[in-house]
Amino acid sequence: MRIFKFKEIDSTNKFLKEMKEKEEYDTAIAETQVMGRGRRGNKWSSEKGGAYFSFLLKEDKNIAFEEYEKLPLVIGYSLLKTFESIEPELNFMFKWTNDIYIFDKKISGILVEKLGDYFIIGIGINLNNEIKGEAVNTAVSMGEITSKTYKIEEIIISVIEEFKKNLDFYFNGNWDKILFELNQKNYLLGKDLCIEYGMGKRETGKGLNIHKSGQLEIEISGEKKLFNVGKIHITKNN
Ligand code: BTN
Repeated sequence: MRIFKFKEIDSTNKFLKEMKEKEEYDTAIAETQVMGRGRRGNKWSSEKGGAYFSFLLKEDKNIAFEEYEKLPLVIGYSLLKTFESIEPELNFMFKWTNDIYIFDKKISGILVEKLGDYFIIGIGINLNNEIKGEAVNTAVSMGEITSKTYKIEEIIISVIEEFKKNLDFYFNGNWDKILFELNQKNYLLGKDLCIEYGMGKRETGKGLNIHKSGQLEIEISGEKKLFNVGKIHITKNN
């Protein structure tokens, strides 16, 4: 595992993606990103004080590719576990499929990309940064909640170590245990949702549990339906 540190970079995901000689768990950390990327082409605001990092996971060809479909959930679980160990009093929630929320605001996001044999796992955590502008309605940082200043690199290393442990746990047949805990922290449970998926399709319903397949169950007109990754809007907070 090599660590590449930058004061400023376009995007740590982009850096690892374009790096020639890749090694598993190579990690890129940046103090700021000028082109931080979020999911679905969104920009990830990356001001000084946040944790912005990416690391590489090599696909193991002995493991069925479908097993990797739950990777974002295993990463989310690892973020939850790390955050809970840092601030055990705070009620962090997992927003299927890729986000961690607290007080109805996003504190952390995950962007997983794939290139050749490698998954590029990018994580942004609002830690010591101040959320500005319109984003104050949807995002919050750990420091804004606790008024503490966190050691960014230490937290990044803890997240990666926690992930390694949980990936092992997952591949060793413990998905049910991870899923149980994720469902205890399922932010979308009981919420009125509108889900956009496929080519402009949308449905509304109530969020239920995360299913053992890793999909989200939504109750639509009295029927339970399973959804793959989609874009979820909460239409009413219950
Ligand atoms: C999302 O919630 O949309 C995902 C955000 C992922 C942001 C991180 S910050 C480090 C890494 N580099 C990027 O350009 N994006 C990810």
